[in-house]
Amino acid sequence: MTYEPTVFADMAGRTVAVTGAARGIGEAHVLALVRNGVNVVAGDLDEEAMADTAKRLGEECRGGATIVPMGIDVTRAEDHHALAQHALERFGTLDGWINNAGRYALGDVLETSGAEFTRMHEVHVLGASFGVQAAVPAMGKSGGAIVNVASIAAYVVRARSGAYSASKAAVEHLTKFQAVELGPRGVRVNAVAPGMIDTDMLSSLNGGNGMPQSAVESVPLRRIGTPGEVSDTVLFLLSDASRFVTGHTLVVDGGGRHR
Ligand code: NAI
Repeated sequence: MTYEPTVFADMAGRTVAVTGAARGIGEAHVLALVRNGVNVVAGDLDEEAMADTAKRLGEECRGGATIVPMGIDVTRAEDHHALAQHALERFGTLDGWINNAGRYALGDVLETSGAEFTRMHEVHVLGASFGVQAAVPAMGKSGGAIVNVASIAAYVVRARSGAYSASKAAVEHLTKFQAVELGPRGVRVNAVAPGMIDTDMLSSLNGGNGMPQSAVESVPLRRIGTPGEVSDTVLFLLSDASRFVTGHTLVVDGGGRHR
């Protein structure tokens, strides 16, 4: 990865948990955090890839930051609690949490199975819910900031994406309830809604061949985004620069949703 993350001075010395952190946008979050001097507890279903990523990004750490990798399944509440516990045991504090893990599958509405709808819902909606339920008690009285990764699929209709899009719309809406209920405890909850971002998930849509030119030209900025462009936005939402922002979903799509 060759991008230079934006630096938010107040982030140094904090601890943040990231799910789905082994690759793609999650990996970019970890890089941005450790470049900002933030300790990271990083969880992913793919434990081996998570360990490799943590090792590789170890060289990018600034200001004494450390990455602790873990194998987790975000559909299991106990795995979120283990991630939070790890943060407290290792770093003595938990200040932020990014519910990033996700999966994608295409399917017509008439053919999508109940199992597929359930899995989408479990990974995205239960994942974001269990993450918040583990993070908030661990943050304690000092509060913190949480970011859920939704998608512009929450707003726009693209063929054969019903199960994925409905689950991301639920995450976007859930974020507002989490913000309203947790605001009095000093916890801010926001979301980002990425558009087309250059990761394995996106390339899997087109058989690994990159995005067709017509899709790229549908974006007003005339390109797809990079994982780091999502991470910079997430760091803004975790940092004190956004201290009066909660219950908001920040769209990071080069304007693509308006086409
Ligand atoms: P990716 O497929 O490259 O990486 C997703 C990571 O999540 C993988 O490492 C995977 O092992 C992990 N994961 C999947 N299920 C998990 C589970 N049950 N427990 C723990 N980890 C799990 O995907 P990408 O593109 O980096 O996506 C990250 C997030 O951004 C997802 O929530 C996705 O829906 C969202 N997003 C991505 C967009 C894109 O164009 N790439 C657009 C909009 C949203």
